[in-house]
Amino acid sequence: MRLENMVALVTGSSRSIGRSIATQFAAEGADIAINYSRDEAGAKEALAEIQQLGRRAIVIKADMADVAAVRKMVDQVVSEFGKLDILVNNAGIEKKAMCWDVTEEDYDAVVDVNLKGLFFATQAVVRHLRDTKRKGKIINISSVHEDLAFPGFAPYCASKGGVRMLARNLAVELGELGITINNIAPGAIETPINKNLLANKQLLAALMKQIPLRRLGQGSDVAAVATFLASKDADYVTGSTYFVDGGLTVHYEEQ
Ligand code: BGC
Repeated sequence: MRLENMVALVTGSSRSIGRSIATQFAAEGADIAINYSRDEAGAKEALAEIQQLGRRAIVIKADMADVAAVRKMVDQVVSEFGKLDILVNNAGIEKKAMCWDVTEEDYDAVVDVNLKGLFFATQAVVRHLRDTKRKGKIINISSVHEDLAFPGFAPYCASKGGVRMLARNLAVELGELGITINNIAPGAIETPINKNLLANKQLLAALMKQIPLRRLGQGSDVAAVATFLASKDADYVTGSTYFVDGGLTVHYEEQ
């Protein structure tokens, strides 16, 4: 077991990628704080799955756009488990609109969850690790769109591009504390975030042509890399992005 005696907080872990990470970490011996903002039933299922694996778990409702709630959540994890070793910033949202139609409300919603909430969750965990003089690991679930354009999703791309630079910048700031920070950039993963795409056969067929491995990714594909980054095996890895996209980002074909 690679994460024995570790405590991990996984944001947005009531379903899909976050839930796969939470359960895979538990299978590797970690105790887990599950976070959700809307899907209470999913969070309870995740809790049961982790308890079945013989690990401790708690569920915390907190909207990542609410910095006060994010700080309170990190405090709660520390008071329940006595410490926090691993933060997975997984919660994320996207809203489709061409840039000329994006509303201020939607822009704020996306950037507040994907970038601001992620930053302040990281800050709270870093303060805990610094004050208790312990090392730790931060893993951000960004996206291939931390690099790749995604027409119709400008605020989403801006937020993920921000997460790309945050990981680089914080890797430098956190090095002296022995804290690593890395990104995972998933491509097209079968999750509710792209339910519209999944329901559209034409779009899906076009997308499949762009993926050299010719399949959508699963939450477990992302969780496998997250487990590596959370483990001792990745002690010397920081400031990097790991793409889990079936080759999507590097694919180019003359039509
Ligand atoms: C987005 C999905 C999209 C995928 C590949 C992800 O970051 O959330 O909506 O299908 O990237 O473009």
